[in-house]
Amino acid sequence: MTQPSARSPTDLEPARPAGEASTSPPIILGMTGASGADYGLRLLQCLLESGWNVQLLLSKAAQIVIHMETPLRLPGRPRAIQQRLIEHYGCHPRQLRVFGPDEWTAPPASGSALTWGMVVCPCTTGTLAAIANGNSDNLLERAADVSLKEGRKLILAVRETPFSALHLENMLRLARAGAVILPANPGFYHRPATVAELVDFIVARILDQLAIPHALLPRWGQDEPELS
Ligand SMILES: Cc1cc2nc3c(=O)[nH]c(=O)nc-3n(C[C@H](O)[C@H](O)[C@H](O)COP(=O)(O)O)c2cc1C
Repeated sequence: MTQPSARSPTDLEPARPAGEASTSPPIILGMTGASGADYGLRLLQCLLESGWNVQLLLSKAAQIVIHMETPLRLPGRPRAIQQRLIEHYGCHPRQLRVFGPDEWTAPPASGSALTWGMVVCPCTTGTLAAIANGNSDNLLERAADVSLKEGRKLILAVRETPFSALHLENMLRLARAGAVILPANPGFYHRPATVAELVDFIVARILDQLAIPHALLPRWGQDEPELS
């Protein structure tokens, strides 16, 4: 079986010629303090490399977990994080905007600002509960609330195990409200040899939900593993 490629390049179809900013509506990426920061960072890399504009919302806990789980060292303030990530991923400066939790005047706070969709990856059970209850205590929760009220794609890559009855009820509530519950639990049928390939399994499923073409993994039936 052909194994998926290593971390870079992402094999995504570019949405714009290199060096130009996209005119497509942005994708909102919320990262919260669940384990699996690499899922969110790899998704960010894929979106930027394929030319999408991204509005990134990081919770305080997300910054702690990124520091614990990855070698990436981010500064504290949103604009400094933005500059650091633009340099880190080498994207067009207008492709990435980072907003803080209380920037209520930022575009993600309003339904009148068009978006392609929103992903919370990874998503804590705390943020899951807040979104399920319509809380808008920070910009990330408000943006998710806006996505639901506008009938836009909202994908929640929830990470916890085991799930309590409260977690399950909140997921059911959100699924009924139109959100896509996409737990960060990768499959193994592509025979992953590295953590990066497990991460790409989840990122590929998220890109599919956003209708973004990619070749991160062979599709089922496309390149079948040999059975022994
Ligand atoms: C290293 C680390 C890993 C964590 N993993 C999870 C997790 O997988 N799922 C979860 O729901 N919370 C997890 N937490 C707890 C959340 O970070 C915590 O509940 C936080 O208040 C969530 O805030 P946020 O939703 O605004 O990011 C973790 C915390 C740390 C420090």
